[in-house]
Amino acid sequence: MSPHLDELLEFLAIPSVSTDPAYRSEVERAAGWLAGRLEAAGFSAELVPTPGHPIVYAERRVDPAAPTALVYGHYDVQPPDPLELWETPPFEPTVRDRRVYARGASDDKGQVMIHLAAVEDLGEGLPVNLKFVIEGEEEVGSVHLFDFVREQRARLAADAVVVSDTAMFAKGLPTLTYGLRGLAYLEVFVEGAASDLHSGVHGGAAPNAALAAARLAAALKTEEGWVRIPGFYDRVRPLEPAERAEWQRLPFDEEAYRRMLGAERLEGEPGYGVLERRWARPTLDVNGFVSGWTGPGSKTVIPARASFKFSMRLVPDQDPDEIAALAEAYLQRAAPEGYRVRVEVHQGARPVLVPRDAPPVRAAARALKAAFGRDPVFVREGGSIPIVTAFAEELGAPVVLMGFGLPDDNLHAPNEKFDLDNFEKGIEAAKAFYRLLPEEVAR
Ligand code: BES
Ligand code: MN
Ligand code: MN
Repeated sequence: MSPHLDELLEFLAIPSVSTDPAYRSEVERAAGWLAGRLEAAGFSAELVPTPGHPIVYAERRVDPAAPTALVYGHYDVQPPDPLELWETPPFEPTVRDRRVYARGASDDKGQVMIHLAAVEDLGEGLPVNLKFVIEGEEEVGSVHLFDFVREQRARLAADAVVVSDTAMFAKGLPTLTYGLRGLAYLEVFVEGAASDLHSGVHGGAAPNAALAAARLAAALKTEEGWVRIPGFYDRVRPLEPAERAEWQRLPFDEEAYRRMLGAERLEGEPGYGVLERRWARPTLDVNGFVSGWTGPGSKTVIPARASFKFSMRLVPDQDPDEIAALAEAYLQRAAPEGYRVRVEVHQGARPVLVPRDAPPVRAAARALKAAFGRDPVFVREGGSIPIVTAFAEELGAPVVLMGFGLPDDNLHAPNEKFDLDNFEKGIEAAKAFYRLLPEEVAR
């Protein structure tokens, strides 16, 4: 165990923040570290350069007659801010109460490390041909990986794709995820006057971009929680009653969930349960808002400019490009008179449902049972992993979403952590998955 943990701590100490150019060389260092570990485990590994961050590609062929699995994950992480809220620094991984605390611990370095540890343990006994695709741009939309998968689809051919970048429904409850939401992410720029103005001298006559942007943002959603963009819901596929009934049997405590969030009450579309709202309904959230004076003290000013970012989580069969276009058209129509509004479309991801009965899924279910002592539950998740659709479509291989995070891992937030029981059991599950795959694929 301990050598794997030491390795994980080393990996986590590299601040591979993909969105911030200041970390560029660190992102590269993380890629190099990973390729080195894979080489040491008997793989031939390379760093595939892209216009962004490199892709780590590695493979090991053990037997032409054995099936091939492709492991996907990401070595990039989200920015660690706000730093002052971390109990120990984000890139000084620390073990407390059988958990390792660091940015990327659960998302996704700890889970990538599970597969690396599994192949290290198996050594010469690796029973399948294995390919690793570990990218450095998942947290910024995987743009360049799409080109790689399309161009290299022959080299990436596999009987199964396994992704460990999701969470278990609860501690001790192994989980296979079969649905992820998609994403459309937009930024809105509002301009009122040519320059900021004295709020006493010009107040009462001058336009205020902050207020106009706030009105525009507020116009995106009703107070009840419905998205007001016309056409937004047109392609939403309703949840099957059987699926809803299955989710009602999951051990979900709405009150405990509310407390975990530290929120006084939960929001969302009336008439849908919390899991349905998070997994099978689309939604819209403002992610950031900038305008005027935000420093200490006061400044009597009328902001000339304001901007905000918002994201929409999408479900089958919504299309991110179509939704972005609908949103942009609505914003232009809803723009308060006299303000210039410009909309920029950032990354998108399509929603995805993966099969629940394919042979590799059966192998994963058996592997989880072997490692955790009970059958897995099947869930959907609200987050997105953009490249999953490309694996399904370009490679035609079933995708298995076998994740080992926990609901309170603090992904993208201060004090991200990864549970060491899940780390150990995850390694056992990964080994069992590779062992069981040939049998299930041959059935
Ligand atoms: N691993 C997460 C997605 C996730 C988290 C799925 C928990 C299921 C459960 C992934 O790293 C992530 O954060 N994705 C981004 C994608 C975006 C930046 C394009 C997301 O969902 O915000
Ligand atoms: Mn992730
Ligand atoms: Mn993430």
